[in-house]
Amino acid sequence: MRTTTTLTLPILLALSAGASAAPPAPGASPEERGGYLVRIMSCNDCHTPLKMGPKGPEPDMGRMLSGHPESFGVPAAPSHGDGAWVWSGTGTNTAFAGPWGITFTANLTPDPETGLGKWTEKTFLETFRTGRHMGHGRPVRPPMPVYWISQATDDDLKAIYAYLRTIPAVRNRVPQPVDPPEPAAPAK
Ligand code: HEC
Repeated sequence: MRTTTTLTLPILLALSAGASAAPPAPGASPEERGGYLVRIMSCNDCHTPLKMGPKGPEPDMGRMLSGHPESFGVPAAPSHGDGAWVWSGTGTNTAFAGPWGITFTANLTPDPETGLGKWTEKTFLETFRTGRHMGHGRPVRPPMPVYWISQATDDDLKAIYAYLRTIPAVRNRVPQPVDPPEPAAPAK
């Protein structure tokens, strides 16, 4: 799927249901609770690429949470002009172009070279607490909902981190973000 397409919200919402499971039982492990949080906080919506299935686009769970597919590359972003439409996304729902430039969803699997394998729990929490790459680098750009996720408790973020350590590692090197061509718009 290489084209830029418009997916309507109901489709995206239905697709988000791709991986379902019961809520964690009382006394569940942090990993189990983290898996639940990842599902209900929609991380898969952007971090698991969509593929074309018999009924239309569906999450490619073989590449669960592995971010923007390296094989997709970095297609040129469409121009948005001054009209009402200010941003767009690829059909994979993993690359987004807007006033912030072009962003690609991160590989959240434990692959040591291309995923979060070398991230510590501290790095993970500080990314959300500061809104900066790995807790100290550049600002994390839209549409990553870092501001909303930052309102999770430390325990919830630790549970999400614990779960992400347990999922299958996928080797997928996500491209670096591309800066906007014009005077940089402030990161939101
Ligand atoms: C609406 C789409 C969207 C959703 C939902 C989303 N993300 Fe992201 N995420 C992104 C994008 C886009 C980036 C890349 C941002 C950048 O390069 O600045 C990203 C980057 C990240 C990063 C890397 C940050 C860094 O320091 O480089 C982490 C970690 C992350 N997301 C975790 C999560 C988790 C955990 C969830 C669910 C609780 C989640 N994301 C939900 C779009 C999303």
